[in-house]
Amino acid sequence: MTFEPVLIGFTCNWCSYRAADLAGTSRTKYPPNIRLVRLMCSGRLDPTFVLKALAEGADGVLITGCHPGECHYLEQNYKALRRYHLLRRTLQSLGIEAERVKLVWASASEGLQLAEAIRQFTEEIRALGPLRWNARPELRSEDAPLEAVP
Ligand code: FES
Repeated sequence: MTFEPVLIGFTCNWCSYRAADLAGTSRTKYPPNIRLVRLMCSGRLDPTFVLKALAEGADGVLITGCHPGECHYLEQNYKALRRYHLLRRTLQSLGIEAERVKLVWASASEGLQLAEAIRQFTEEIRALGPLRWNARPELRSEDAPLEAVP
């Protein structure tokens, strides 16, 4: 039986969410493994959102945002880029493959490219196999649940 990864995609309202919408309206298929979560900007992504998604069952997280220089909130996607690198280092230090988190830039007109990026990410995570965060005692901590900063 083929492993079907569960993926969470954090999308920016102004670009990648619209790109996903465009993919849908132009009938460009992408794997149904991904659940998209819309944020107003990639800069809104708190790193704990990603860790919480992985801790609660996701096998991979795709972060998407406007291309550098095109963020509607000036430089927030550069902050997302820095958080992405921080997340990858954090995952590595926990013994988790950094490749389980990926950052992709996609403008509103790049429905095809986003669909291809989702397809590619799904295959990459499928090749890695399930994360099973809860089955790894070194990652469990009942004393310190992950909470997003309000
Ligand atoms: S508005 Fe899209 S990444 Fe900031």
